[in-house]
Amino acid sequence: MSGSTYVIEILMSKTALITGSSNGIGYELAKLHAENGDNLVLVARSKDKLDELKKYLEEKHRVKVYSIEKDLSIPGAARDVFDELKWQSIKVDYLVNNAGFGDIGFFAESDWKKQEKMINLNVIALTHLTWLFLPGMIERKNYECGFNCLFSARTNDVGLFCHQSFCSELF
Ligand SMILES: NC(=O)c1ccc[n+]([C@@H]2O[C@H](COP(=O)([O-])OP(=O)(O)OC[C@H]3O[C@@H](n4cnc5c(N)ncnc54)[C@H](OP(=O)(O)O)[C@@H]3O)[C@@H](O)[C@H]2O)c1
Repeated sequence: MSGSTYVIEILMSKTALITGSSNGIGYELAKLHAENGDNLVLVARSKDKLDELKKYLEEKHRVKVYSIEKDLSIPGAARDVFDELKWQSIKVDYLVNNAGFGDIGFFAESDWKKQEKMINLNVIALTHLTWLFLPGMIERKNYECGFNCLFSARTNDVGLFCHQSFCSELF
């Protein structure tokens, strides 16, 4: 590939933000996007794992990877991610709200701190990220959102998206 072709490819390629990309489904989705030539924003708490994946994807697929070490269960984390990308002039075309976790057992006997963390991560952070990134995606007429459990919704189904996100937590 010539230098100019490479520059054109970089300029035309899209960027996928994948939360929870240090492990599991998010990790695999990051590899699939990179294989497709998409640049990536990786978000999770494990910096060492993100750095390792970034190095691997950049070397193997020649895509640009930006990693953000962030605990998305902390209030305001979604805003931090959005602001950091704005500062870096990185525009997001695909938003994959994958980070999350579950719990097993009787709700009445559950640990409230864990429940709170789960709601912050599985509901608040993903809804906030979507709310923050969606306007720019709509403006560029280039969008695709997904959220954990691999349900996905296009922007003209925002009502459905919200409904689904809460249902996925309630049931
Ligand atoms: N696998 C299943 O059968 C299944 C079934 C139903 C739903 N899901 C949902 O699908 C998603 C992916 O599942 P998975 O099996 O791939 O999960 P996983 O292997 O446990 O990976 C979860 C990812 O989320 C990240 N994460 C967890 N807590 C976080 C936090 N507070 N802030 C930022 N990132 C956080 C983890 O990275 P760090 O630890 O580095 O932060 C990791 O990269 C999850 O939302 C899960 O609840 C999975």
